[in-house]
Amino acid sequence: MQSAKCILQATRSSKACFLKLFETVSKTGNLGISRFLYNYNKSFGKYDVVRPWAVSKKADVPAYIPQPSYSQSSIPEEGPMTVEIKDTYQIECMRHSCNLASHILHQVDRIIKPGITTDSLDKQVHDMIISNGAYPSPLNYCGFPKSICTSVNNVACHGIPDSRPLQEGDILNVDVTVYLNGYHGDCSAMFQVGEVDEEGKRLIAVTELCLKSAIEICQPNEYFCSIGNVIEEIANKHNFNVIPVFVGHGIGTYFHGAPDIFHCANDYSGKMKAGMTFTIEPVLSQGMTQIEILNDGWTACTVDNSRTAQVEHTVLITDTGCEILTL
Ligand code: MF3
Ligand code: CO
Ligand code: CO
Repeated sequence: MQSAKCILQATRSSKACFLKLFETVSKTGNLGISRFLYNYNKSFGKYDVVRPWAVSKKADVPAYIPQPSYSQSSIPEEGPMTVEIKDTYQIECMRHSCNLASHILHQVDRIIKPGITTDSLDKQVHDMIISNGAYPSPLNYCGFPKSICTSVNNVACHGIPDSRPLQEGDILNVDVTVYLNGYHGDCSAMFQVGEVDEEGKRLIAVTELCLKSAIEICQPNEYFCSIGNVIEEIANKHNFNVIPVFVGHGIGTYFHGAPDIFHCANDYSGKMKAGMTFTIEPVLSQGMTQIEILNDGWTACTVDNSRTAQVEHTVLITDTGCEILTL
């Protein structure tokens, strides 16, 4: 197990610019350290503790597919510093990219079964995205080597698809983001491989409830911080913990921009306005909320090997409430 110092180091040096240090807004002010241990000594259930396997070579994207600038440079352009209010045309573009992302995410269920590797899942999703005229947004984003993220069991986020065959009982997040007509659409869901134990099922169900409940309160004039307050309350009520370092984000022609959407209790100022588009993507843990980023610079594992679940939608604030664009 890493020391807290190493973990903080790993967080700071992460290439993932959207992995925010939580200190600035946390009510407890220390990466949530005082709030870890709701469930630490209980059984986390029956599952395989996952470590990275071999990663295959980077996929090609045909030249006719419009690509974000980082597809060559690996360095994304700065997103807006203030929260963008999108006009009707921009919203239409968001609808298209988000529709495609969710359509593709829905195909994943038919591919997942015991024995298939996350590498093969990545290849199939990559081909689907390309054949729909879009670019897989993660590919070469800050150097990410694959087209989707696949985070299995104790991998909390940003798992790299690899040669490990999925096993009966695994739970995994598959995160699909597409860049279509100059706009990104971002969503993720949990999948179960064969028969999953009760604790794993409960973790997924509560994470889905957290996202649903957070979306329900989104409307003009609502505080962004209400999202985290709702999510953490529900998670804790069910004896799970919110991992604070992973935040949702504004999205548009940029993959990640203002606002930061914190998923744990916070007092971030700022209110929602019609025309904003952002993601909500809480990660819940069965145990500790500290994560360790492995040497590949991406794979984020829980330090106590507890399982996590994450689900994500891109939402639009409308005049009367909000709309899930990745439904
Ligand atoms: N889709 C992830 C998100 O929800 C980001 C993945 S970027 C990658 O924000 F580079 F890690 F792939
Ligand atoms: Co996202
Ligand atoms: Co995502």
